[in-house]
Amino acid sequence: MQIPAAGLLLTLIVLSPSCARRVEAPGTTPADGMAPTWNMRAPRVIEASKALVVSGSPLASAVGRDILRQGGNAVDAAVAVGFALAVVHPEAGNIGGGGFMVIRLADGRVQTLDYRETAPGRASRDMYLSAAPEASVTGHLSAGVPGAVAGLTEAHRRFGRLAFSTVIAPAIGLAYDGFLVDEYRSSSIGEDSARLVLFPASRATFLPNDRPPETGSTFRQPELGATLEAVRDSGAAGFYRGRVADLIVAEMVRGHGLIDHDDLNRYRAIWRNPIEISYRGHTIYSMPPASSGGVTMGEILNIMEGYDPLPAFGTAALMHREAEAMRRAFTDRNRHLGDPGFVNNPVQRLLSKDYAAELRQQIGEQASVTPRFETGAGGGSSTTHYSVVDADGNAVSCTTTLNNSYGSAVTVTGAGFLLNDEMDDFATSPGEPNMYGLVQGEANAIAPGKRMLSAMTPSIVLDREKQLYMIVGTPGGPKIITMVYHVISNVIDHRMPLPEAVRAPRTHHQALPDSLQIEGGGFLPATLDSLEGKGHGLWSREPWGDVEAIVRTSQGWQGVTDPRRGGGGAGY
Ligand code: DON
Repeated sequence: MQIPAAGLLLTLIVLSPSCARRVEAPGTTPADGMAPTWNMRAPRVIEASKALVVSGSPLASAVGRDILRQGGNAVDAAVAVGFALAVVHPEAGNIGGGGFMVIRLADGRVQTLDYRETAPGRASRDMYLSAAPEASVTGHLSAGVPGAVAGLTEAHRRFGRLAFSTVIAPAIGLAYDGFLVDEYRSSSIGEDSARLVLFPASRATFLPNDRPPETGSTFRQPELGATLEAVRDSGAAGFYRGRVADLIVAEMVRGHGLIDHDDLNRYRAIWRNPIEISYRGHTIYSMPPASSGGVTMGEILNIMEGYDPLPAFGTAALMHREAEAMRRAFTDRNRHLGDPGFVNNPVQRLLSKDYAAELRQQIGEQASVTPRFETGAGGGSSTTHYSVVDADGNAVSCTTTLNNSYGSAVTVTGAGFLLNDEMDDFATSPGEPNMYGLVQGEANAIAPGKRMLSAMTPSIVLDREKQLYMIVGTPGGPKIITMVYHVISNVIDHRMPLPEAVRAPRTHHQALPDSLQIEGGGFLPATLDSLEGKGHGLWSREPWGDVEAIVRTSQGWQGVTDPRRGGGGAGY
């Protein structure tokens, strides 16, 4: 549902000691630079004095809040939310996919955890060239070796405070007892039903009576419950060995996929140092390769930092400079970045302020040109992000994905969970566009055991005094990078309150295809004319993303969940 900007109201959840209350509060008027036609509704806003979770699912956020209330820290809550999302947000929450977690402890230590999927040992560089069309997107061959269970159990092992069985218990309960399906999740399953129906276990799980579960119905997943119990009892070994591993391998044999027991045995999550970016006195921690998120966003921010003052929001002057910065950052991303276990990522050079100055010098008043290229990139895909802060000030920013909505659409028979289609994030055919229209090179070519390059950009922002300020991330394929950039810049540069920063219309450029994508209806026609006059090919699109962000306020914390999708928050 969308309401006109004129009637804009902010929905606040005001927390009393025992319960959360939803009230309507006077909203903001659209910031200068947004078109009157921008009728995006106001985000859901959650205020909490101590601790807060925002995620793509209100139920998963409530799980996180309850874990925090029981004395769990932000990592306990993040792990609980991760498992809960696998149950209540199956389009993207997962145990059959992977993700990235940025953790900042209250004492200032920052670590990131890479639990990205890997290519199976029997995968090869050109495996999709002779495969059926769509083989990297739907079906068994599209799945990488899942990393989520290794990641979540490792995060808990290193930083968790509560018993693992306590942290995973809510997800197990939701799987066995079921949960009430809301409108968002019912229609989300409906949108992918044509793919899910292709695989018997997916059909049986997600399309009872050959229809998506109806809004208001109770959705139970006992097989998933049993899988989660195996993880509760044996940790990662409960997934990568034993019955669940056998079921995964049997599913691969059934559908001619490649993942075998060796792949599952070998999978490890990896701790990495964060990407650290300084931006107008703020410090931003984000994800290093195997995600391109931190480096690419850092390059964009570094270029933009040199425009001082920055042109106002919604002006052609700003959007042109942003598009050119994005174009250059994505060109480097697509050319140079890949799994650091396999290729040398020139991170220091790409993130140096000198290099940003060089790139800025190249940006004139007209659009530069990247070779033209037509593609139907984008659409219909899903990842999910959640942000957590606890009462001690520990923070977690986590993005996790199956890649496409419902991943490969293959549910592991007997184990009740979906497998990812992350193989499509490789340059499956170097030089050719993938599902998101990204044209990537050899650095991201397929090799056995290699992590496919991601765009996920879970980030944590400190203020000028180096205090925790913001936790932010989103799904959206390559647009993740530019969305996180926009939200950070909207808050720091354009001084928007976080709800307005999330609600504001977005732009995106990824070098190829060579067009500036804009959220339709968001910008003034005169601005768009002016951008076209500068030589930008504009591509007006449906709104995108699902930013789940938290910002510090004088009262505690404010969580904002993107009005574009069906998330929610919970805190105390
Ligand atoms: O890792 C990546 O960059 C992609 N697999 C993310 C996919 C995604 O965000 C789709 N969501 N809308």
